[in-house]
Amino acid sequence: MPGIVETLKSYVIRRRYRFRFRVRGRERLCRHEFFYNAFRALSFNGIDGDYAEFGCHNAMTFAMAYHEAVRHKHEARLWAFDSFSGLPAPKDDRDSHPKWVENKMATSLDRFHKRCASQRVPRDAYEVVPGFYEETLPAMSDTDAPDNIALAYVDCDLYSSTMDVFRFLMPRLKHGMIIALDDYFCWSATQISGNRRAMLEMFPENSEWELLPYMQYGWHGLSFVVENKTIADSS
Ligand SMILES: C[S@@+](CC[C@H](N)C(=O)[O-])C[C@H]1O[C@@H](n2cnc3c(N)ncnc32)[C@H](O)[C@@H]1O
Repeated sequence: MPGIVETLKSYVIRRRYRFRFRVRGRERLCRHEFFYNAFRALSFNGIDGDYAEFGCHNAMTFAMAYHEAVRHKHEARLWAFDSFSGLPAPKDDRDSHPKWVENKMATSLDRFHKRCASQRVPRDAYEVVPGFYEETLPAMSDTDAPDNIALAYVDCDLYSSTMDVFRFLMPRLKHGMIIALDDYFCWSATQISGNRRAMLEMFPENSEWELLPYMQYGWHGLSFVVENKTIADSS
């Protein structure tokens, strides 16, 4: 028979797990709702194009995107951009955040494929671009596929990673596409959010593009509809 101390300990552990599960479950639900709405909006508004995810880890959001694209009959090729070895080292102070540690969230490419398969994402539905963005993204030309993106999901945490992704997306922006920044509300005691900092730098007032806030999801994410200011002004 377990004593009172063991019983109490196992009770506390079970409660902790249940709480964690509920938190994860809630965060999953928020993201799922986002993907439902995003693909519904894209298909309702006739915006075609691929799904590009920057920061894929264990394929949770990747699988959600696949299933919502299918549900909404949105014909998209899916693109997974990740180091498949976790977060890079911080480039400078602008990347510092208590939770972002080098190598964290490392998921090997093999494991990523397995996670996709176990979540019923067929291998022929997606492409992977393995490697750190500072190497992989600049090596792709402005016209390399994916060159028609309807939804870009940016979930790579750091400021420097987000900057690499925005530089890659710049020549691929199009009116009506959606960009989701999963870490928009991840700031620290000494920094504004890395996603937000990158966005302010890459989309200044005089930019040709406006990011119209679309959906906030969970406590962390904010998505935007990309508007071409010339089209917006003449409407
Ligand atoms: C928060 S996780 C992504 C979670 C994922 N969307 C999911 O649903 O499981 C962040 C990911 O970004 C990747 N990442 C961050 N910065 C990167 C960079 N500069 N180059 C390549 N991958 C990067 C990490 O390897 C990690 O897998």
